[in-house]
Order: sequence, then structure tokens, then C-alpha cells
Amino acid sequence: MNILLCNGKGGTGKTTLTVLLAHALAEAGKKVAVLDRDPQGTATQWIKECESKKVALYDHASKYDAVFIVKWRLSAYR
Ligand SMILES: Nc1ncnc2c1ncn2[C@@H]1O[C@H](COP(=O)(O)OP(=O)(O)OP(=O)(O)O)[C@@H](O)[C@H]1O
Ligand SMILES: [Mg+2]
Repeated sequence: MNILLCNGKGGTGKTTLTVLLAHALAEAGKKVAVLDRDPQGTATQWIKECESKKVALYDHASKYDAVFIVKWRLSAYR
């Protein structure tokens, strides 16, 4: 399952919601990763700094129940 959180406007909570939802699913026992396609890299920074280590940074060689994709602009990924 891929879950995309995207909003063309800045500062609308994309990164925050991604990190929190990813952790909620991981707490529920799912194998979860975040694929950070935002050049700011804020989600990556949060995942790296998070103590729980329950959410991975996406690795193409691994299988996940859910992958949260962070994009900074929908048009940039068509
Ligand atoms: N539900 C919320 N309630 C209050 N503040 C929030 C909420 N979600 C996010 N914020 C705050 O709003 C600010 C912007 O959030 P965030 O960085 O997640 O947005 P973003 O859409 O990823 O921004 P950017 O466009 O810069 O990537 C942050 O300071 C964050 O702590
Ligand atoms: Mg962000």
C-alpha cells in the first residue's frame, strides 16, 4: 500500500502528518517506511532522529505493508 500526502501549499502539515501516521501504523504492527521525495528532507530527518526506530526510511530491496510518500509538489512527479 502506497500512501501519498501531497499539498501544493507549504507549511500545511504534510511532513508532520506523514511521520505521525507512519508511526501509528507501525505501532499497530505494520512494517512501514517513508519515501521522502521532498528535497527539504524534513521527513527523513524526523525518521532518523526518532527514538523508536519502528519506521524505516524506504529501501527498494525491502517489502513493506505501507509506504508513505512525501512529495513537495504533485506536478513534479508525473
Ligand atoms: N495538526 C497540527 N496542529 C498544529 N500544528 C501543526 C499541525 N501539523 C503541523 N503543524 C505545525 O505546522 C508547521 C508546518 O508543518 P509541516 O512541516 O509538517 O508542514 P509541511 O506541509 O511539511 O511544510 P513544507 O511545505 O515546508 O514541507 C510545523 O511547525 C508543524 O509543527
Ligand atoms: Mg514538509
